[in-house]
Amino acid sequence: MNIRSSLDADRPALRALHEQAFGDEEGILVGRLALALQDDPTAQPLLSLVAEEDGSLLGHVMFTALTLDLQTAPQLRIMAPLAVTKGRQGDGLGARLIEEGCRQLQAEGVECVMVLGDPAYYSRHGFTGTHGLRPPYELALPDAWMARPLVPEALSRWQGVVNAADALNARQLW
Ligand SMILES: CC(C)(COP(=O)(O)OP(=O)(O)OC[C@H]1O[C@@H](n2cnc3c(N)ncnc32)[C@H](O)[C@@H]1OP(=O)(O)O)[C@@H](O)C(=O)NCCC(=O)NCCS
Repeated sequence: MNIRSSLDADRPALRALHEQAFGDEEGILVGRLALALQDDPTAQPLLSLVAEEDGSLLGHVMFTALTLDLQTAPQLRIMAPLAVTKGRQGDGLGARLIEEGCRQLQAEGVECVMVLGDPAYYSRHGFTGTHGLRPPYELALPDAWMARPLVPEALSRWQGVVNAADALNARQLW
């Protein structure tokens, strides 16, 4: 299994991967979101990694830009979406995609990665809910909004309201 940056040629397979992993209506929404983010200039700088084996895409994760109090904040990113194909869930691919993404971002000087997801999963991957970075909307499940510091003190240094790229900022996605 190899992790690499996604290519334009991967787009149909990426969409299909999210549709299959998330299933039904959510899968269609997330598949569309993954492609829309790749076309969205406000998502830049963007990191899109795929897990590939024997020419098949098994997993995908994206990290895109955030603003802080409507100002550019290159030290912050959001991770979304993340998916692993159904037949390979539980093999650690999700963990490897998260770790490789965070490793590359840390090397670029990013200090903190946000996620909106299941705390039971993300708390096992360095994400915590205790921080002063507030989401753009009131959330039905506030514990789902989490941050992973990539450098010491990041969570005390960064505080305010974050906004995601246009494609990810739609209310229905939060
Ligand atoms: C969530 C997802 C990305 C995890 O990827 P993965 O490669 O299966 O995860 P890993 O192999 O790294 O970790 C597996 C472990 O996480 C657990 N896990 C997976 N999803 C979980 C969840 N939503 N909540 C709690 N634990 C979860 C598994 O039970 C397993 O636990 P174990 O190690 O004790 O057996 C993958 O299951 C997936 O694509 N799910 C559908 C899409 C989705 O929900 N994406 C995330 C949206 S926030």
